[in-house]
Amino acid sequence: MTKPHRIDMHVDPINREESLISDVQQGLSQRPRSLPPKWFYDAAGSELFEAITRLPEYYPTRTERALLRECASEIASLTHAETLVELGSGSSEKTQLLIDALLAAGTLTTYVAQDVSESALLGAMNDIADRYPTLDLHGVVSDFSAGDFRDGLRSLPHYPDSLLAFLGGTIGNLVPEERAHFFAAVRQKLKPGEHLLVGVGLIAEETDMIAAYDDAEGVTARFNRNVLDVLNRELGADFPVDKFRHVAVWDRANSWIEMRLRAVEAMTVEVKRAELSLHLAEGEEIRTEISAKFDLGSFLAELEVAGFSRVTDWRDPMNRFALILVNAVPASI
Ligand code: SAH
Ligand code: TRP
Repeated sequence: MTKPHRIDMHVDPINREESLISDVQQGLSQRPRSLPPKWFYDAAGSELFEAITRLPEYYPTRTERALLRECASEIASLTHAETLVELGSGSSEKTQLLIDALLAAGTLTTYVAQDVSESALLGAMNDIADRYPTLDLHGVVSDFSAGDFRDGLRSLPHYPDSLLAFLGGTIGNLVPEERAHFFAAVRQKLKPGEHLLVGVGLIAEETDMIAAYDDAEGVTARFNRNVLDVLNRELGADFPVDKFRHVAVWDRANSWIEMRLRAVEAMTVEVKRAELSLHLAEGEEIRTEISAKFDLGSFLAELEVAGFSRVTDWRDPMNRFALILVNAVPASI
């Protein structure tokens, strides 16, 4: 007998405006000026990101999807997960491949999805509920980076035999220090023997990497500028959005693609609710996102330092993306 599905939605009581104001005050007054990437993802931003994933230039999504198609059943038999927990789940579209495999293996009972974008999470949960009537579903709208990731992960429910998934190369959007905090917090969250599956962008041809973040149609440019629409709407700012150029550069020393918004002319912007008056010179830039690309070996080394041990990994034939499965090792005594 199939039991009726259950969806449980939880919205973290974060004060969005307060936290946006403090991020804007801090990020826009320092040099280089920067904004944290989570503010890209209002409803419009989440839709633009989905459009990015369908662009011919944006190879990460379809590469990761192909890898998942290939290895999902192996992941299911290696992990025997009862619960799949996903951070930054977005549309959860590729995740269905994992869910299919874990259900076929007969172990999965629960899917927990977490995202800062309420609209993306609601849409994903509705799709998943329609497709998988027997699965218990738990959606959490929250910021996984809260309190150096510790608070962000603590607010997630933990079930036995969890597989925690962090897909899409989103790990690359964290700077090295944040990455270390992230891995430490995830390790704390998991019991020894439980698994973490990470999707990571590998260092590829520079022209391919740049094109993935600067497509011909200008969808990524619109996505990038959308963060200014968010500030205009939510903080009463007056950024002249069309006076900013989307810039994507490969920073070889840091091994990351850096996304910036460049003011095409000098301007003074008022960010009313942050009580901030911002003067930008012509050509001045705001850093909006990094997307680090990795060497598999050094990425695995970071995971090992954090208390994980490699189970296996999968790479596409062009070596542009990897899925890495690790398990939590007991803390040393
Ligand atoms: N996993 C999906 C989406 C990747 S895009 C995929 O592979 O296609 C990055 C996702 O992370 C977005 O859905 C965004 O809303 C979410 N995100 C970004 N920063 C976040 C944060 N601090 N806390 C929670 N979710 C975040
Ligand atoms: N996690 C995605 C990535 O780094 C996010 C992303 C894709 C993105 N395209 C972008 C972020 C453009 C900012 C701008 O690949």
